[in-house]
Amino acid sequence: MPVNLTIHSNIHDYDVFFEDSPDFIQHLAIQPNSCYIVDENVWTIYQETLLSVLPKIETIILPINEDRKNLATVQELYDQLVERPAKRNMNIISIGGGILQDITGFAASTIYRGVNWIFVPTTLLAQADSCIGSKTSLNYHKYKNLIGTFYPPANIHIFTQFLQSQSDSDFSSGFGEVIKLHLMGGRDLFSNLVELSQSVINREPRVLHKIVQQSLNVKLSYMSGDEFDTGRRNLLNYGHDFGHALESTSSFAIPHGQAVIFGMLAANIIARKRGLLSSDLEKTIANKLLIPNWVSKPTINALGKNEMIDAMKKDKKRTGNNLALIMMNDTFEFTRVNDLFPDEAASALAELQIMLN
Ligand SMILES: NC(=O)c1ccc[n+]([C@@H]2O[C@H](COP(=O)([O-])OP(=O)(O)OC[C@H]3O[C@@H](n4cnc5c(N)ncnc54)[C@H](O)[C@@H]3O)[C@@H](O)[C@H]2O)c1
Ligand SMILES: [Zn+2]
Repeated sequence: MPVNLTIHSNIHDYDVFFEDSPDFIQHLAIQPNSCYIVDENVWTIYQETLLSVLPKIETIILPINEDRKNLATVQELYDQLVERPAKRNMNIISIGGGILQDITGFAASTIYRGVNWIFVPTTLLAQADSCIGSKTSLNYHKYKNLIGTFYPPANIHIFTQFLQSQSDSDFSSGFGEVIKLHLMGGRDLFSNLVELSQSVINREPRVLHKIVQQSLNVKLSYMSGDEFDTGRRNLLNYGHDFGHALESTSSFAIPHGQAVIFGMLAANIIARKRGLLSSDLEKTIANKLLIPNWVSKPTINALGKNEMIDAMKKDKKRTGNNLALIMMNDTFEFTRVNDLFPDEAASALAELQIMLN
């Protein structure tokens, strides 16, 4: 029997089903008033196998990439959806990664003021992180995730077998977020992931199942009581301060979760320099988990320290001349400070450069 997780939400409660067989797709394929929206790459790989049971006539194959995560693509979808006989009773079933989730979740939350929505995540990032949390986001011109709604799917079905076909680069990006969530889950989860990390990289099914569940449990524990992201949930941005900066200075050449690994390394250096994190623990985390899974390997020199600090200055939550940063301490507790000096950030980046070379 699959293990399930019920998530309480101010919008509506929803369930995550951890599936151990593909039978659930057959059940989804016969749900009335359904429209199936499938990431084109996922369709190409699985149309003859796992997804062959979907009724073709009800299926929309959506080509996606980050540049198509916008209102124009949502409009394309509206154009197709309004032609269907189902209206407010429509059931949208999305199958794909985080981009497809964001586009179709936005469409599901707005068409007819919100229709039933089911999500089948197919990437490590979407299964272990983005599928819960209620956010749907679209990019607006150059601004990432500027437009969006809070709208959780009614049901989420996680089938880790989909992860076998992910590219190494996308998989390692998802793994960055998994590492972050295991650190945020405390010392035992951290040690557990150190033990399992080679098996994760080898994509052993049993282990994938376990780390996805563990990641979602941690995310849930930070979301509880703060669904709309006004307080504690914000700590989930650990690793994202320097991470977002690296993403933007690399013009998004570095995948998001990989940039988060870089961001965690930088944040931990600063936490150590501020006396929050012992040198031993900082080194253990870096050497056992972060550096071995940092596969991007550009030098910081090439990317520009000053540009990265300028990018951090654009953080909306920043006050005065200093920067914001989320750090961990020796007992795996997380805090956000707003008093990081740009010089402190620069010296951490210089140290990180030596560490990564
Ligand atoms: N809504 C949220 O709460 C939230 C949270 C985090 C991230 N996100 C968003 O998620 C997006 C990133 O999502 P992602 O990392 O899942 O990437 P993605 O959706 O871009 O998928 C990555 C690539 O893998 C392909 N793909 C998907 N599943 C596959 C599979 N099983 N086998 C082979 N290829 C497959 C896709 O077609 C795509 O080319 C970003 O746009 C980010 O902003 C949203
Ligand atoms: Zn992230």
